Amino acid sequence: MPYVITDACIDVKDKTCLDACPVDCIYEGGRTLYIQPDECIDCGLCETVCPVAAIHADDRLPEELKPWIAINLEFFGPQVTGWGRPGGADAKHTTTRDHAVVAAWPRKTVTG
Ligand code: F3S
Ligand code: F3S
Repeated sequence: MPYVITDACIDVKDKTCLDACPVDCIYEGGRTLYIQPDECIDCGLCETVCPVAAIHADDRLPEELKPWIAINLEFFGPQVTGWGRPGGADAKHTTTRDHAVVAAWPRKTVTG
């Protein structure tokens, strides 16, 4: 029952969640971050720190956010990075690439 990052993170990328995660299973893409679902231990800390409430447990997602379960998973698959289960975020596992859904997302204007 992993946690997933949803569209509220796109073009915001606050990254406070990176410091909160005890197992470093949150990975940076171009316009958003992604949680590796097999590495997430469901501690829920990331959900409590995200300033835009982008992170939710997958079993508590409202219907319209359910596609984000597959989007987080597929980021690590052959569709995007092919990283599989890297064992922890590091410089080698940071990319400017994104899942196709994120890449096609309308650009948000971020102020501040
Ligand atoms: Fe994104 Fe929130 Fe993390 S905006 S980078 S999910 S703290
Ligand atoms: Fe990390 Fe959040 Fe999972 S802090 S372990 S990604 S619930």
